[in-house]
Amino acid sequence: MNLSTNYMGLMLRNPLVASASPLSQTVDGVRRLADAGVGAVVLYSLFEEQLRREAAENARLVDAGTESFAESLSYFPTSAEDEAGPRHYLSLLERAATAVDLPVIASLNGVTPGGWASYARAMQDAGAAAIELNIYYLPGNPHTSGRDVEQRHLDVLARVKDAVGVPVAVKLSPYFSSTGEIALRLDEAGADALVLFNRFLQPDIDPEKLAVVPQVGLSSPAEARLPRTWIALLHGRVRASLAATTGVETAADVAKYLLAGADVVMTASALLRHGPEHAAVLIDGLEEWMARKGFAALDEVRGMLAVPPGTDETDYERAGYVGAMRQANSGLYGPW
Ligand SMILES: Cc1cc2nc3c(=O)[nH]c(=O)nc-3n(C[C@H](O)[C@H](O)[C@H](O)COP(=O)(O)O)c2cc1C
Repeated sequence: MNLSTNYMGLMLRNPLVASASPLSQTVDGVRRLADAGVGAVVLYSLFEEQLRREAAENARLVDAGTESFAESLSYFPTSAEDEAGPRHYLSLLERAATAVDLPVIASLNGVTPGGWASYARAMQDAGAAAIELNIYYLPGNPHTSGRDVEQRHLDVLARVKDAVGVPVAVKLSPYFSSTGEIALRLDEAGADALVLFNRFLQPDIDPEKLAVVPQVGLSSPAEARLPRTWIALLHGRVRASLAATTGVETAADVAKYLLAGADVVMTASALLRHGPEHAAVLIDGLEEWMARKGFAALDEVRGMLAVPPGTDETDYERAGYVGAMRQANSGLYGPW
């Protein structure tokens, strides 16, 4: 079955994309994902803090009277921390992009517009087929306005779009007052894809140790409902490609995102849980489901259950909510 997919202008052999995770921290890891059959790989994110640290270190070396920047590079310590830094990232990207025959997408994680542009260009030069902007910004300061948060996203996108010719995707959080509006504004500002959604680190509390426990937990399929709702609402309403991320565990989860209108479906937790080879299970399962349901092509599936064009979206969502609540309140969960 032909599963080829256009994702922000990149031609993928199928719509399953390995999203940013530790699985893409080595060339071997990227190769394993490719061998398992994914359509594209997003590398783990390079963090703005790492860029700043390297810039500060370069400045320190220049101040110290190092004769040339090229020479100064040899002064860098080869600590583990440095290994994870920007130059290591670019080197991995370059090697990964030549090692596999599918698009390798680089990911930048930051919160301020400065500094992104030059690294985005360096990523492009190192062979990135596209850049994914993982704008992980949690406005912890309660004086920060919603408009400021949105503007930050638009500023980062504008800087990076100016700097590169490859497609640029924006990975969003689900926490906007009007997710649809920021999606439309990013679309108008030239985002080539919207990736819905990132998962924020939500630290836990250990009541025995009386300590905050920061951890990135793996997702569960129920978490796919929120991004799927927004994919269904945005399908056909933006020019940008739509990438779904969160909660893909089985082929049925992939099918559900496609039915909602996703162009590509990303997965990280399931591949971390079961190994990269699980990608083949997802793709085979998708083909088996399509054949069983009588679908000959992905175009027949994609967006079949999106919110129909011309619908009043607010009324549509409200009707679904009211219907579900009526059902729930009429004894669905009883008797108690
Ligand atoms: C251990 C781990 C590391 C991750 N690292 C990154 C990262 O570097 N950059 C990024 O944009 N997302 C990162 N993510 C988020 C995933 O790419 C993905 O968007 C999210 O986990 C939801 O998808 P899933 O339910 O398939 O895991 C990470 C997720 C996990 C579990």
